[in-house]
Amino acid sequence: MLETIVQRERDFGTPASLAAETVTLTIDGVECAVPAGTSVMRAAAIAGINVPKLCATDSLEAFGSCRLCLVEIEGRRGYPASCTTPVEAGMVIRTETPKLHDLRRNVMELYISDHPLDCLTCPANGDCELQDMAGVVGLRNVRYGYEGANHLDDATDSSNPYFDYDPSKCIVCSRCVRACNEVQGTFALTIDGKGFASRVAAGQSEPFLDSDCVSCGACVQACPTSTLVEKTVVMMGQPEHSVITTCAYCGVGCAFKAEMKGDQVVRMVPWKDGQANRGHSCVKGRFAWGYATHQDRITKPMIRASIHEPWREVSWDEAINHAASELKRIQAKYGRDSIGGLTSSRCTNEETYLVQKLVRAAFGTNNVDTCARVCHSPTGYGLKTTLGESAGTQTFDSVMFTDVVILMGANPSAAHPVFASRLKRRLREGAKLIVIDPRSIELVDSPHIKADFHLPVRPGTNTALLTSMAHVIATEGLIDEAFVAERCELSAFEQWRSFVSQPENSPEAMAEITGVPAADVRGAARLFATQGNGSIYYGLGVTEHSQGSTTVMAIANLAMATGNLGREGVGVNPLRGQNNVQGSCDMGSFPHELPGYRHVSDDAVRGEFERDWGVTLQPEPGLRIPNMFDAALSGSFKGLYCQGEDIAQSDPNTQHVAAALSAMECVIVQDIFLNETAKYAHVFLPGSSFLEKDGTFTNAERRISRVRKVMEPLGGLGDWEATCALSNAMGYPMHYSHPSEIMDEIARLTPTFQGVSFAKIDELGGSVQWPCNEEAPAGTPTMHVEEFVRGKGRFVITKYVPSDERSTRKFPLLLTTGRILSQYNVGAQTRRTANSLWHKEDVLEMHPQDAEDRGISQGDWVAVQSRVGETVLRADITERVQPGVIYTTFHFPESGANVVTTDSSDWATNCPEYKVTAVQARRVSQPSTWQAGWSRFSDVQQKLLHERQREGEAAEQV
Ligand code: SF4
Ligand code: SF4
Ligand code: SF4
Ligand code: FES
Repeated sequence: MLETIVQRERDFGTPASLAAETVTLTIDGVECAVPAGTSVMRAAAIAGINVPKLCATDSLEAFGSCRLCLVEIEGRRGYPASCTTPVEAGMVIRTETPKLHDLRRNVMELYISDHPLDCLTCPANGDCELQDMAGVVGLRNVRYGYEGANHLDDATDSSNPYFDYDPSKCIVCSRCVRACNEVQGTFALTIDGKGFASRVAAGQSEPFLDSDCVSCGACVQACPTSTLVEKTVVMMGQPEHSVITTCAYCGVGCAFKAEMKGDQVVRMVPWKDGQANRGHSCVKGRFAWGYATHQDRITKPMIRASIHEPWREVSWDEAINHAASELKRIQAKYGRDSIGGLTSSRCTNEETYLVQKLVRAAFGTNNVDTCARVCHSPTGYGLKTTLGESAGTQTFDSVMFTDVVILMGANPSAAHPVFASRLKRRLREGAKLIVIDPRSIELVDSPHIKADFHLPVRPGTNTALLTSMAHVIATEGLIDEAFVAERCELSAFEQWRSFVSQPENSPEAMAEITGVPAADVRGAARLFATQGNGSIYYGLGVTEHSQGSTTVMAIANLAMATGNLGREGVGVNPLRGQNNVQGSCDMGSFPHELPGYRHVSDDAVRGEFERDWGVTLQPEPGLRIPNMFDAALSGSFKGLYCQGEDIAQSDPNTQHVAAALSAMECVIVQDIFLNETAKYAHVFLPGSSFLEKDGTFTNAERRISRVRKVMEPLGGLGDWEATCALSNAMGYPMHYSHPSEIMDEIARLTPTFQGVSFAKIDELGGSVQWPCNEEAPAGTPTMHVEEFVRGKGRFVITKYVPSDERSTRKFPLLLTTGRILSQYNVGAQTRRTANSLWHKEDVLEMHPQDAEDRGISQGDWVAVQSRVGETVLRADITERVQPGVIYTTFHFPESGANVVTTDSSDWATNCPEYKVTAVQARRVSQPSTWQAGWSRFSDVQQKLLHERQREGEAAEQV
């Protein structure tokens, strides 16, 4: 048998019991004490005794079907299955007796008699529990032969792009079915047929790809044989070594084992000890990593004088020196503040920290901003104002202790799938669910889950809705008076109470604005206030509004008023879109804040950084992203360093962004692909994927997790090294020998990170939640436990102010946007993977009534026009959206969703109002003028890329 040196995690057979009481028993002469409710199998494993098993695994409830784990218990007749037998005090158990050996061998013999004997050529060879167990029970021969009925010729289903299902290897242990039900919560698999005829079936016995399967991989991971196996393992063979790292997609921040052969990834396996994901994953992190070595990767630095010229490949030195001299030239001509930089929520904390340091210390300006501007900046403002800290309050595990959940403006099944699975599990256990969303998202009605309330709020009226829920709580005596009296500022609370109690804030009065029936609002408010532990999870459907910050504060008000903060099972939980949104904000990416959310105007804080960095810093906030665009168009902003961001696709009002980028004299893009922004760039610096990085990401729980390099940067330099080189060339020395030194500097200068280091993260099992400092050396899973970070919690008046983006006669529909499971954000990564099989284009969801009014049928091309632009998308007629609301995703640049979105933005933070754009829609037969122009421009830019002068050629000519 081939030995693999990939370390397999210990499998205790059944899940841990959380009981506090312990039970003492004896197994094979060893006395052990375990929590009550533990299975005999798990107790034995804890005592170091491995009972043979096949259908049991510790991520799933015991099932008891394979009969391999039989044991003898003194005083009991027969041979009970150890996986389904709970421990009892004083039990005396034997796991190895001649009789048990016989029984197990017989069981194995039956399995093997209907199993191909092709171990040597099987992809699972060396990683197969059936193979292992055959060895453990000492099976050498099969007495029955292979002539009888068997399944050895059953055909393989290869429809899923990432894994195969080979029924000839199936032992019908149901682990896959149970993983899909219990862990993922999709219920896509069943065991079809009875007895010998029983087989695993996806959906109605259809190919996996056509079934409800969402390709999370949980079944593949659970399968003890190679029945369900990754195609990469079939192709490349078993991995040889592994590295633990963190997914670079969404803000759940799942920990993975990158299993490798040499420097090639064979598969990404969710890490069982990952504290954010507990061994689960989604299709993106599990399978969609092939983009990292996609042929479109640009691995050589390039420069060009104008965007109309072909690129020229140059050395890193030449690219960096050229970029620095351009930035210096621009500053000399137009002034210090004519340049700036953008950090990325896809990059590590260390890289992000360096970019803001480069801008503040080397450029000498505070013109630094980040993509969190366009997603969660209102979270920062709203939570800081009310609770005192710009971050979510809980762990993901906390959801398992909740009794009622408000899920608002978030679609976790698509955007935060691993959290969605955990939430579904808790809902199946009986927790209640209130969904506030204009669309009927999956959680409103999915297998074994039905929301208790769906409040289909009209886009743009979230604040009105939450205030009317607060009205019910305040006027029906549902406020947690004791919590408020002890924990909150009383005068602000009284003002708030009298504000929300006003009749004009009642659900009945607000129904006309929100479109939600008053009875439902009352029912939902009562449920939330009285059910026990109440938690609120929200997403960009809250923040990306003109009243985004107000709605975040309304959420915090609701949590404080009902006493739902400061313990497990409650809290205010922003679901962050990108992997490191929390981190990029923590690292001082906003123009007004130094790392740790400290204002640049604070002399003491600035002084600390000035002493450490050896420079003078500006005391005035710099430009936000939209201000940079405006300044570019008015001629005062001329140079931009943009790391890992694609503003030309992701920011609203695309034509405005394109005009601003075109007006700049030097745009430096650092990325892995020639993205939309790079088409306007003069310098391209090759970026590195997460597989090529050392550093940390901070997820939505404030969890700082290690990202570990599994291969060298394809471009030769890590992103942090390129930033250092640019800084050095600008005349400000930056020297680090490893990203861990950057984290040490962050810790030195940021009180909430004071105890963080790479060594500390390792010591704590792979991650730590900030604040991590002297008061909280092991980090802070739950925030605001004794008191709020700001001392007393502050209620804020949340007066509803209608958005400028509301339906009019000219623009009678409201466009709102969102994501889909298989694609990620601007799609630069996922579009370069097989995930596109599930989502090839962005479509426009429209209610049948609106479609009929406009003569639009399923699949028609529809022009969507707002006051700033027009784009054309294919219609998907569905009742998922309410009449008057249309919806699309924004994963493909040619869709032009952001050509339509406007520069209307949050009053406090300028976060764009992506979720509400007043539009008209009509049936058309061709793409929009913008799409035609985009297509031409893109073709030219691709041509200029392909015609690039290669480095070798350039040298030859010199
Ligand atoms: S991949 Fe996930 S969703 Fe699909 S069948 Fe397996 S467990 Fe279920
Ligand atoms: S596919 Fe794998 S996990 Fe599922 S029943 Fe067959 S052997 Fe068990
Ligand atoms: S995309 Fe999010 S949920 Fe999916 S594996 Fe990555 S971090 Fe986890
Ligand atoms: S492992 Fe216990 S019955 Fe299968």
